[in-house]
Amino acid sequence: MPQFSETELTAAVIRSFEDTPDPRLKFLLQELVKSLHDYVRRTDLTFEEWDYAIDFLTRTGQKCSAIRQEFILLSDVLGVSMLVDAVNHRDRGGATQTTVLGPFYVGEHRVTPHGTDISADLPGERMFVQGRVSDLNGKPLAGVPVDVWHADDDGFYDSQKSSYATQGSSSRARFITDADGTFFFRTILPCSYPVPTDGPVGEMILATRRLAMRPAHVHFLVDAPGYEPLITHVFIGGDKYLDTDVVFGVKDELVAKIERHDEPTMPDGKAAEAPWHLMRYEFHLKPGAGVAPKPLGAKVAEDA
Ligand code: BEZ
Ligand code: FE
Repeated sequence: MPQFSETELTAAVIRSFEDTPDPRLKFLLQELVKSLHDYVRRTDLTFEEWDYAIDFLTRTGQKCSAIRQEFILLSDVLGVSMLVDAVNHRDRGGATQTTVLGPFYVGEHRVTPHGTDISADLPGERMFVQGRVSDLNGKPLAGVPVDVWHADDDGFYDSQKSSYATQGSSSRARFITDADGTFFFRTILPCSYPVPTDGPVGEMILATRRLAMRPAHVHFLVDAPGYEPLITHVFIGGDKYLDTDVVFGVKDELVAKIERHDEPTMPDGKAAEAPWHLMRYEFHLKPGAGVAPKPLGAKVAEDA
C-alpha cells in the first residue's frame, strides 16, 4: 500500500491522469493539481479554511439560477476573467479592445429598430448612442448583430429586479448594422453601480474591504461571421470608478468622451429633452472565428 509524503502525493495525483486520451484535458488537469497542491503547501491550509472554501463554493453554486451567475462574478472579481481575456487577445492588431462579459448577459436580446429608446420606461437623462462596425481597414460591416445591455438609473440590471418575471427585459436589445456598418439607439446615461453583494462573492468583497463598484458603461457584443466575436464595453469618460473597477475591466481605449448637448433635437432629427448626451464609438473586428456566448436565460431555455 503506497504511503505518500507531501510532495510524493502531488506526483502520484499527476500520474493518475497519465492515461487521459485527450492531451489538452490531461495537461489542464495536471497543471491544476500542481497549482492547487502548491497553494495548500504554501499556505499550510487548515481544515477549517478548506471547509470554509468548500462551503463558499457550494453557496456560490447554490446562488446560481437561470438568470444569475455567481461563478462568473467570482471569476470576474478575482481577475480571472480578465486574465483569460488577456491571454486570448495578446495581439489585437488594431481590433477593438475586449473586456469582461459579466454575469448580466441574460434573457432575450430582441432585434430592435434603430433609434428605439431601449430604456423607455426609466427616468434619467437621455443618451443617443451611435455605433459603427468595421473591419481592421475601416470597411463597414453590414447586417451584423450587435447586442447591447446596461444597468438602469439605480444601478441594477433588469434581471436583478423582482419585476423581471412579469415585465421582462429593459435596457437590452439587438441591433443589426446598416449597409454603412452603423446602428443607433436612445437610452439613459448609465451610472456606476456595485456588483451584487447579496451572495458569497459579495461577502468576500465586503470582508476584504474592497470597493464593489464598477464604472458606468454600456456592454456590446458584436458577432459577425468570419470575424472574432467582440465582447466589450464602452465606459463613460470621467466616471470616478474608472481606476478602481472591481473586475479590473477598464482599458483606456474603451473610455469614451460623452458629449453633453442642449439642442432640442437628437442626431436623427427627433425631438429631445435637454440636456442629452452623445456616445459615439467605432468597433473594429478582427478576421477569425469563435463562438459568441449566448444570453444566460436564453441558453438554458434552448438546452431544456
Ligand atoms: C457587468 O458589467 O455587468 C459586470 C461585470 C462583472 C461583474 C459584475 C457585473
Ligand atoms: Fe455592466
